[in-house]
Amino acid sequence: MALRRRKELKVLIRHSAIQGAVRRVAREIERDFRGQRVHLIGVLKGACIFLSDLIREIDLDVSLDFMAVASYGRGKQSSGQVRLLKDLDTSIEGLNVILVEDILDTGLTLNYLCRVLQQRRPRTLRIAALLDKPSRRIIKGLKAHYLGFQIPNEFVVGYGLDYAERYRNLKDVCVLAQPPE
Ligand code: IMP
Ligand code: MG
Repeated sequence: MALRRRKELKVLIRHSAIQGAVRRVAREIERDFRGQRVHLIGVLKGACIFLSDLIREIDLDVSLDFMAVASYGRGKQSSGQVRLLKDLDTSIEGLNVILVEDILDTGLTLNYLCRVLQQRRPRTLRIAALLDKPSRRIIKGLKAHYLGFQIPNEFVVGYGLDYAERYRNLKDVCVLAQPPE
């Protein structure tokens, strides 16, 4: 059966609403960094779809890099220990860095990445996240400067987010009916 009609998937955020949020976030970034350059860092792999839409909406000088991380431990709860799988290609010293993530959940991953990046002395460091599940937060003070949507505590897939590497190609963000253990 076609992927988007499978019964385990329930649409939570339609593609048209996502596009609206991407444009809104881009306007906020343009307003905050008018006349300046911004350097977007995408956290692979989940953020790649959000990042590729966002970067084309930002009418400023923009450059781009990627990082890849893995959480130690298995299952859907990250352990807090994060392993760097791919580091940046270039220095971020003196740059206006925006870390682009698919979802802010416990906050352990972004907390680790922010600590690593802050040591490299960017001019500014901000977070842009498509989704936020505030009820799951462990790192209490952590929030996104730029946010698409707050969502309830449900496991979601699509628009870059996966379950076991599947569903990233869905245009909508969908709740997965049988969430992973
Ligand atoms: P954190 O360290 O708990 O904030 O985890 C963030 C990462 O967990 C995200 O980058 C996602 O890869 C993954 N994640 C958290 N919640 C979901 C979800 O609902 N669906 C898919 N991936 C998720
Ligand atoms: Mg991810």
